[in-house]
Parts: sequence; structure tokens; C-alpha cells
Amino acid sequence: MERIWWKESVIYQIYPRSFMDSNGDGMGDLKGIISKLDYLNELGVDVVWLSPVYKSPNDDNGYDISDYQGIMEEFGTLEDWEQLLNGLHDRNMKLIMDLVVNHSSDEHPWFIESRSSKNNPYRDYYIWKMGENGKEPNNWSSFFSGSAWQYDEQTEEYFLHLFSKKQPDLNWENPKLRQEIYSMMKWWLDKGIDGFRMDVINLISKVEGLPDAPSENEHTYVFGGQYFMNGPRIHEFLQEMNEHVLSKYDIMTVGEAPGVTTEEAALYVGEDRAELNMVFQFELMDVDSGPGGKWDIAPWKLTDFKRIMTKWQLGLQGKGWNSLYLNNHDQPRMVSRFGNDTDYRVESAKMLATFLHTLQGTPYIYQGEEIGMTNVKFDSINDYQDIETLNMYDERVNQDGANSQDVMESIYSKGRDNARTPMQWDSSLHGGFTQGNPWLAVNPNYPEINAAQALADPNSIFHYYKKLIQLRKQHPILVYGDYAPLLESNERIYAYNRTLGNEQLLIVLNFFESEVDFELPSDVSIDKHTLLISNYDIPEDERINRFTLRPYEARVYQII
Ligand code: NOJ
Repeated sequence: MERIWWKESVIYQIYPRSFMDSNGDGMGDLKGIISKLDYLNELGVDVVWLSPVYKSPNDDNGYDISDYQGIMEEFGTLEDWEQLLNGLHDRNMKLIMDLVVNHSSDEHPWFIESRSSKNNPYRDYYIWKMGENGKEPNNWSSFFSGSAWQYDEQTEEYFLHLFSKKQPDLNWENPKLRQEIYSMMKWWLDKGIDGFRMDVINLISKVEGLPDAPSENEHTYVFGGQYFMNGPRIHEFLQEMNEHVLSKYDIMTVGEAPGVTTEEAALYVGEDRAELNMVFQFELMDVDSGPGGKWDIAPWKLTDFKRIMTKWQLGLQGKGWNSLYLNNHDQPRMVSRFGNDTDYRVESAKMLATFLHTLQGTPYIYQGEEIGMTNVKFDSINDYQDIETLNMYDERVNQDGANSQDVMESIYSKGRDNARTPMQWDSSLHGGFTQGNPWLAVNPNYPEINAAQALADPNSIFHYYKKLIQLRKQHPILVYGDYAPLLESNERIYAYNRTLGNEQLLIVLNFFESEVDFELPSDVSIDKHTLLISNYDIPEDERINRFTLRPYEARVYQII
């Protein structure tokens, strides 16, 4: 497998609205990020992924863009952004930007033109259709509840929006639109950025005719993913983008790809395919979803978790490259979801970090993960800001009459605002995030959980991440080594090997709070070993073939 910088990097995601506010308006901004570059450097990350900072009416916090080449006023100016880029490069870090081109904002000039008349030259930049017998053109639901179509009185047609009605889908069938997007990408790349994270990029090609999705009830909207996920022209579009833009620069790309299988992923990231470098898969994020989808909370089993990860590790091994993440701005906090955010917050956050940083692939850290930030429970739905959460609550409680407490429980587990509460910098008011009123309340646990505390405590989660990041630099086996699962049917322990040439690593993780005995399978024999990292003190003479794991204990052994 080819050695390359983005495989050896650790990436840190910043959600700018919630990272650091420099001017007291309650919202994070670019100058705020600049003031924290030394913090990121201290952690040791190589690349920063910036969630959108472009001009936006903020229906979906910047994922609805009205000017792809302008900076959102609340965040600062293009000069601030340039200072941020230089500040990162001066510290030997890289910057990747969010590319959101499945849709724009309805306030983008293209859409304003497009909706103005049926024969406007921009009409075909978006997806317009006539209604069917007084109803929407098809029965697809939006990811944010309700129909995926919005009627527009001016021209008496509907436009498609897979997300909010202020996020009309762009029509990638139109070659002029594609060229405009490629020029915009080049404009950013020529400014010196190091790559893109591509928002829902596997949704850009829709099946011709936009057919109805099969449904038992003609009055409900249903998910039509089979007609727009990994659609018919997706690989053609990405190869074209690669040829016109990506291949001309030394950059990295990661595509967000809901519904992608390992077979499909190999097509997106295959080293000989000239499309993308990595995708974000969602299979693991569905491990705790019931038949009703994301809000239908189901208990998860470690054997399912392991089966999915093993499928992805082996599925891309030797073919393409994995991205490794357990949370981001759309997912709940990993320590609350897969660890234990009360009695074993520190131990379980370190165990999950050990897992992420010892697999084959590139690890992604979401802001606050490195200090073990947790989910939040606001009392009232009025304290929430996220459009997905608010629309879902409205549909279920106000329209369908569901019990509001039940719906709140789903929001506590899965709502996106869990990850979006402001970064907790210190124990001062609002966690040191702002001098004003934060746009979304800070998690009330900030007096105990904050970066200042973590920096001061040598045993903190932060210092453990630092060590893991350094280990990947010292041991190429952690990046490139082959993965092989052990004890696959064990419901308590996740154990695996990594091998590269004659080198070998053994990773053993207790995913739960009760103690559990570990025994090395009899066909694995080990002479000498050294401990590379653990979240507990381990007696030096402890034997490796049989030991008891304490709550959420993690060990990484180098086998000699
Ligand atoms: C995925 C992004 O990560 C999410 O935050 C956004 O709401 C949707 N795509 C739509 O852009």
C-alpha cells in the first residue's frame, strides 16, 4: 500500500460556530479559532477540517451556502480566513474545507435566478418538476422530515430538497453547473488549502425520472435513498471532478457517504480509481438504530460493532483507505454513546480513543472529544437549535401526537445539538467560550470538564490523545499494518492484531464497566512483549496470555 501524508495524519474537526468566540456575540468565529492554534499544535494533530464558514442564512448552520466564495459575516472576513490558513501552515498543520455541493441555499444567486422563471438560464441548475394530480412530483421524504419537494408559486412547479426547504438540490446533470463548481473548488485550492471534506457527496446523482419509492401508504412520505444514494452517474461525476480539479493538486479528500457499502466504498476510494481518498461510512453509526431509523433507539451489541468494523477494515485492506470516527457535528458524543459518561468517563474515553487510533485508516477527532465532552440534556425543546431535531419534534409531537417525553429521550440520545454545545475551555462563565450569550447553551458540566483542567492534569484524556497521536508517528505499523480480529464472538472484549512485516501489535479493549478475563487464543503464541500504551497502570511482570481487564481497560502491546 502506498505511503502518503494523509494516511499518516490525524484530523481535527472544528465546528466554527461552537469553537471559540472572539468578539462576544455568542457565536464562534475565525479569530477565535486563530487564538487556539497553539492548543491544536500542542495536541499534535496534522490537519484541521473546518465545517462551513461561507456566507449562509444559517437554516442548517452553514450547510446552506449563499456564496461559496464569501465568508459568513458572523465568522469574520476573508483576511481572517487567510490568517487562519497561514497560522496553520506556519505550525505545520494543514487545512481542509467543507465542500457542500449537493445543494446550495435558496438565497444563493443561482437559485434566486432559477426560481424567477421557467426559461431563466439558471432554471436547470436545480431540480424542478410539475406536481402530480395536485401533489408533490414523488413521495420522497426529506432527511429533515416532511416532503423532499417544495411548491414555488412563482412558476407553479416544485423543487427538490433532500434536506431543508432552504437547501434546494443542485442539478449535477447540467454540465455548466459542474464547471462552475470545479472553478469554485480551484479558487480555494489556489489559495493554498489542502483538501476537501465533501458533504453528502454520494447523493449528487439522482435516478432519471425521480420515481416514487415503494410504499404501503400513499399518504406518507418515504425515504427514497435507492434513487439518489450512489446514483447512476456518481462515479462519472467524481472522475470528472478528479480529472479537472483534484488531480492537479497535492491534497486529500474525504466524502461523506450515507448508505455506502464496503463494495461501493472500494469504488470511491480504490487507489486506481481516481475519485476520492476516503469516505465516511455510516454503517457503524446505525449499530444502535432500531427498525424506525436513527431516532428509534436500540441497544447495541459489541459483536455487531466488531462485525461492522472488521468488515470495513478487511473490505478496504489493500484496496483503499478507511476514515475512522465515532462522532462529529451530526452525531452524539462518543463517550456518552459507546462509553460511560458518568462513573468511567475518563477511562472509557481513553479506551475508545485507543480503538480509533489503532485501526487501519485516518483518525478524525471532533472538537471536545479530546477532553471527553459529553451529551447534554436540555429541559425544553425550546432550548434546542438544530433544524433536524426541531422538525422531527414538530412532526412527531405536534402533528402525530407522540408523547413529548419519549421524543425528548430520543433527542437526548441522538440529537445533533449534543455535539454542538460550545467548546469547554475553562471553568469561567460559559466555559470560557464567549463573553456574551452563547447561541446554544454550554453543557452545565463545564466546571469539571474543560480544556484548562485537561491541560493541567498529566493523566487527562487530552494527554492520552497526545500520546496516541505521537505513537502513530513513531510506529508505521499503527498506520499501515494489516488488521486481523481475535475473539470475534466475545460480547465484552474487542481484541485484534496488527501486522507489518515481522512486526506485530496486540490490542485488547474492554468495552464495558465490569471486569472481564482475557485469554489469548491458543493458536497465538507470544514470547516477548512491551506495552505501548494503556489507560491503567499495568504491573511490569503481568503475563500477556491471560489477565483480567478492569472497567474500560485498553492495552496495546508490541510483540517482539
Ligand atoms: C451532512 C452534514 O454533515 C450535516 O450537518 C448537514 O445538515 C447535511 N449534510 C446537509 O448539508
